[in-house]
Formats: sequence, structure tokens, C-alpha cells
Amino acid sequence: MTQKLYNPSQKVIEKAHIKDWNKLNESAQADPEQFWTGMADELHWHKKWDKYIDDTNAPFYKFFVGAQTNITYNCLDVHLTTANRNKIAYIWESEQGETKSVSYFALHREVSKFSNVLKSFGVKKGDRVTIYMGRVMEQVIAMLACARIGAVHSVVYGGFSTEALHERIENSQSKVLITCDGSYQRGKVVELKKIANEAADRSGYVDTIICVQRVKNEVEMVAGRDHWYHKLMEMPIASSKCEAEILDAEDPLFMLYTSGTTGKPKAILHTHGGYMVGTYTSLKYVFDIHDEDRYWCAADPGWITGHSYIVYGPLLNGATSMIYEGAPNFPYPDRWWSIVEKYGINILYTAPTAIRGLMRYGDAWPRRHDLSSLRLLGSVGEPINPEAWRWYYETIGNSECPIMDTWWQTETGMFMITPMPSVPLKPGSGTRPFPGILMDILDDDGNPVANGEEGNLVIKNPWPSMMRTIYGDDERYKTQYWSKYPGYYLTGDSAKRDEDGYYWVIGRVDDVIKVSGYRLGTAEIESALVSHPSVAEAAAIGMPHELKGNAIYTYVILVNGVNPTEELKLELTQHVGKEVGPIAKPQSVEFIDSLPKTRSGKIMRRVLKAKALGEDPGNISTLDD
Ligand code: WT7
Repeated sequence: MTQKLYNPSQKVIEKAHIKDWNKLNESAQADPEQFWTGMADELHWHKKWDKYIDDTNAPFYKFFVGAQTNITYNCLDVHLTTANRNKIAYIWESEQGETKSVSYFALHREVSKFSNVLKSFGVKKGDRVTIYMGRVMEQVIAMLACARIGAVHSVVYGGFSTEALHERIENSQSKVLITCDGSYQRGKVVELKKIANEAADRSGYVDTIICVQRVKNEVEMVAGRDHWYHKLMEMPIASSKCEAEILDAEDPLFMLYTSGTTGKPKAILHTHGGYMVGTYTSLKYVFDIHDEDRYWCAADPGWITGHSYIVYGPLLNGATSMIYEGAPNFPYPDRWWSIVEKYGINILYTAPTAIRGLMRYGDAWPRRHDLSSLRLLGSVGEPINPEAWRWYYETIGNSECPIMDTWWQTETGMFMITPMPSVPLKPGSGTRPFPGILMDILDDDGNPVANGEEGNLVIKNPWPSMMRTIYGDDERYKTQYWSKYPGYYLTGDSAKRDEDGYYWVIGRVDDVIKVSGYRLGTAEIESALVSHPSVAEAAAIGMPHELKGNAIYTYVILVNGVNPTEELKLELTQHVGKEVGPIAKPQSVEFIDSLPKTRSGKIMRRVLKAKALGEDPGNISTLDD
């Protein structure tokens, strides 16, 4: 693991907020409280905290105890009295090339108006609201409007199917659903309203749907239940005056569903105060946001990356952000590079799967564009392979832009292992934990492993932007994250550390598969398969894939008497796509007669995987048959 270090250029260091990473890190590791409260002091609080942390009911930690705030006050209101008032908050470009920009003043106004609309439908503090939209400005506005009145947003990614949306609406008990008539994906319309209707029709909760007109397709609007966003925003109820509700630092801000080891996705809950401090600090230092920067996180607002680093982190920093609606290679493989050139993007944050996907088209596409505005690059979602790292660094960044390989999770709220602009890099390593974050790598008995050895990645101290619980399931929060090593947060990833103290994350050790950076549980795919009448039993595993990182392979035992045909394989693939979402479609469906199981009946996925890879399955002493 000893290898060439990539040192940051003078240009990058000169600009960096933090020039001496080691110094900051040493003091923050020694006294996280001092570090975090110092950062919290840079934000506005309606009332300051009495105490930094309350750990009396661990692992249900509380931060900034007794403080009052509202994250949207710091995202919007504070900018109205500074030069940021007229600054662009977002530049938005559609897949077709339409463009629009929104100033902080205008964003504050739109959010206030929509907050009043939500209030007029009876939405109040603590109510959950589901947002199921494409990548449009109104999605950001809807999230902020919920937060402004103290409602809890639950954003469901616009690529999910009826089943997944329905399940999330029911779990969150959302009475209001905000959606779009449709969204564009590679020139085609995705019928979001149709899916929203199907989910709402089956729901025991939804009594209001607010629909943004994006693609102007024919949609069914149910009288009394469904309303057009633009019509509501023209009505007197949508007054532009709506003060941010003053909240407790620990009041919930949002929940976001993510896959775990059981069939049901879990709702990760984040709060106003701690999450605000975490996203503000991490974005400021890692992507080194400056006033004149144009920053582009090319994720979807519907994932945690978008929540933290398209919506909240950038606004807290008063940044100018880019949002692009469409696919990276539409209509041509240089779409992203043309955006970087056109808008003079300085910071680009994306995922390894996108980098590999664009790398495949060769250097000619990026070379056509002037990418010299770039100063920093970022990567997230899965380990980045050194080949993609070097291409990103050399071809996109002209060997001048450090890559911030940020390791974090929906649960952590913010970057946990990450370089900063002044840190020497090694391709494939996120370097070291963020200041104030204490991590380790443990063996199964809880002993730290030696350098170079693989083990379980854990976080040793609570941090402000950590999840507070799984919504509605405190027990699962405790057992899943805090039971293996009492007092330590279990990440579910395996990792190694090298002699320089750099961390190398290897991947998930639990039954979670990362496909193109998206997190999917084997159990979700398996239960989707088993819900098909022809399937008796199923198992899913992740297999290495050049572009996606992992691809899903499935093994299916058919119900007696069903014919194992090629058509049925296709049907099952479609079925999973319909139940979970297109990203969950298996690449391979294989019919088999029995599954390797332990005596207690658990499927031994590693045996299936070893077999598929042509490797030795290792210890199979617990195998039943
Ligand atoms: C899992 C969390 C947090 C934003 C997007 C993913 C993997 C994430 C990296 C990275 C290696 C990474 C881990 C983690 N992961 N970033 N830079 N290097 N692995 O959030 O969907 O909650 O997934 O993504 O396995 O546990 P998520």
C-alpha cells in the first residue's frame, strides 16, 4: 500500500481555508467539543446551547442541547442582509438545455411562499411530507419549505417504483405528497405523477398531492386531492412572508430511506442543529468553498449526497451551486464537460461509476472543452479504482486538482473519512478521518487490527451530524449500529489502514450491495423475487462489474412444476425492476435446485459468490448440506 503521493499544487493550498491540516486535526481530535462548538459559533442560533452533548441515554445522543434554530434560517435568511442577497444560489440547466438561475433573495421568497402553501393544507411541525420529484428547482424549494415550518421531509428518489414509493409513504405516514407530472431521462418522459397516483390510491394516509408541471404530459388529477403547484403559488395563500419556525436543535429535519440488511428499507432520521453544523463545516473545509466559487455536486437531491451537499451544505455556506437535470452522456458524452466550461465550474463532486462511465468514451470528449476553471474534484459512493482516479485527476483535472475521495453514509450525514485540499493523496484512499472524528478498524473480538490488516470500520465517538435513530424503530437502531462493539458505531464496511495512517475502505461486509453507488439490500431484491408467483426461494449477491462497481446476480428456486424458461428470467428481471426500481434489476437470474444454507437456515451468500467467481468458498463448516 506504500505508493506515490500526489501533493497538492501551490495554487490550491494558497486558497485553502485550512492550510495546516495536521494542526487542525490534532486539536480537533484532542477536543472534538471545542472544534464543533467553534464551528457552531459561525452559524446563527435563536438561542445558544446549554450543553454540547447529552449522552445520558446513549446511543440516543443529543447535541447542542437547549439550543434553538432552524436550518433554513441559516440557509436563507442570514444571506438577505449581506452581499449574498443578490448572489446566485442555484444555476439550473435542463436536459434540453433550458437554463434558469435563482438568487438567494428569490429562493427565500419561493420557499416562504411554498411554506405558506403547505401550511394552508394543514401541514405543521413534526408532520411528515413525502417528496417524489425529478431534479428540478421545486424539489429543493419543497425540501426547504418543509424544514422552514418544522415539517419532516422524506424524499423518495424519482427513479423508484410504485411499490417502493408506497412503502415509504406508509412507513412515514405522509398525508401530503409533492411530485411532478413527469421528469426527463435521456429525452424520454418518466411518468412520475402516474406512479404517485398508484402509490397514493393504495395509501391510507395521502389526502393531498401537489404536482409541479414539468413536462406537460397528460396526467390524471383527482379532484379534491390533487393540486397544481403553479396554481397554488399564484393564490393569496402563498404569501411571501413566512418566518422560519423556531425549533429545538434536536427537532427532526428529515428522514431518508436507505437499504440495510433486512427487507424493509429504514428511515434514517436527522435533526436541525447537529446536521447543520456538520454539513456546513465539512463542505467549507473539504471543498474549500469561497465566495467566487461555482460548485457542482452532480448527485440527485433525492440521495443523502444531494441533501447534504446540494441543498443544505452549499446554502449554509452561501455558495453558488449547479444543478443539472439530466444524464451525463446526453445527448453526447461531453455534456458534463460542456457544463463545466459554460458555467466555469470550480469544484466538481461526483461518483466513481459516473467517472468510469465517461472515461469509457475516451479523452477526446473532455479535451474539446476548456476545463481550466476546475480547482477541486470529488468522489463518493464506493471505492474509486486507481485507474478511474488517475483519469479523473489527469484528464479532467489536468493534474492540478486534488480529488477529495469522501467516505461517508446516509447515517453519518457528512464526510467522515476525507482528504482536505492540503493533504497529499493516494489514489483509492480517502486519507484520514475528518477533524473531530475518531475512527478505528477492529477484528471480530473488538481488538484494533495491525496496519495493513482488514477489519470492521467503526466510529469511536458521537458527532453532531450523526443519525438520531431509525424512524419508528429505536430498537433496530441500537442493534444494527451499536450492539457489535458497545459504545462504538458500526459502519458495516471493512477497511485497512496503512503505515501513514491512511484508510482504505474495501466495501460492505453486510448484506448490502452497492450498484453504481446506489445502496441495495440483498433482502429487498430477494423479497421482490419471492413475491412473484413462480418463485419459491431466492438469493442475491453482488459480483464485480467494470462500470457499476457491482452487479446483481440472483439464484432462484422455482415453485414445483414451473418451467425454467428464458422468458421467465426476463419476466423476473422486470418484476424486480417494478417492485424495487430499475436500478435493482438483476444482471443475471439463474435457476437452481437448492441454496447453500447454514443449519439455522440462513443463506450463505459468500458460498454463492465464491462459486460464481470460481473461488474456494473457504470455511463451510456451518453449511447444512
Ligand atoms: C456506503 C454508504 C454517502 C454518500 C453516498 C453513499 C460506500 C461511500 C465511499 C468512498 C468507499 C464508499 C460505503 C458506505 N461508500 N463513499 N468514498 N469510498 N466506499 O451513501 O448510500 O448511505 O452508502 O457507501 O460502503 O458504507 P449510502
